Amino acid sequence: MDPNGNVQLNFGDGESPTRLLHVAVIPDGNGRWAAARGLPRPVGHQAGVEAVHRLVESAPHLGIGTLSLYVFSADNWERPRAEVVGLFGLLVRFLEDEAEEFRERGVRVQVIGRRDRLPKELRAAISATERLTAGGRRLRLRLAIDYSSQDAILRAACRMISSLEISRREFARVLGVANYNDGPAPDVDLLIRTGGEQRLSDFLLWESAYAELVFSQKLWPDFQTADLEAALDEFHRRERRFGRIPEVVAG
Ligand code: IPE
Ligand code: IPE
Ligand code: MG
Repeated sequence: MDPNGNVQLNFGDGESPTRLLHVAVIPDGNGRWAAARGLPRPVGHQAGVEAVHRLVESAPHLGIGTLSLYVFSADNWERPRAEVVGLFGLLVRFLEDEAEEFRERGVRVQVIGRRDRLPKELRAAISATERLTAGGRRLRLRLAIDYSSQDAILRAACRMISSLEISRREFARVLGVANYNDGPAPDVDLLIRTGGEQRLSDFLLWESAYAELVFSQKLWPDFQTADLEAALDEFHRRERRFGRIPEVVAG
């Protein structure tokens, strides 16, 4: 434990004393949040950034060691160009504004997804933030930008094509590398999607094989720390069986 009462993050293979959770979040509903107020969609995205700030701030206090956030999907390129450009601008500002605070708070930022299609300024902001925060040990924050889980799995499969037999563990390691510079990440424990939709939209399909899914009706900008706590309470109430039978039955 550090002086703030947070369990230190262990990126090695060994289990840390209190196992920290990997929580994945699909922060959906920015556009509807803005529309409900008669505001343009970019205002919803700006409000969404504030909700991300709250989420990152509270995560280390709630037993979360890895937080994967779906920021921009490979399919989001299909949105109007102005919205895409606006989103990237917001992201650059977000990274520039928060990088130093992330470093101070021990948040290590890693971006997964393709980089080659992103604008130069965004690529530069990503690299600078990753470099600055590389020593962070309290929270690993994985931002999925231009991300497609199907593409990542396909890339990993192509890399493995010459191996006749591989274990799931080895494939997961290659999948981490195929995620463009991200190291291997633990499987997702809890996946939260806001905005009322009940689908994964191509996010962390392999890693969420046994994730507990929590769908919230709240639109992302309205998502508060109390909502995250409620999702974690729900997670802790659930029995994870991983294909086995309940412990009481097994005796
Ligand atoms: C999620 O909010 C944020 C991104 C995809 C970048 P949306 O923009 O999808 O909001 P809705 O679903 O249209 O309300
Ligand atoms: C998923 O939301 C992507 C992100 C939140 C970044 P979308 O709003 O793009 O997903 P669909 O289109 O409703 O499946
Ligand atoms: Mg949406």
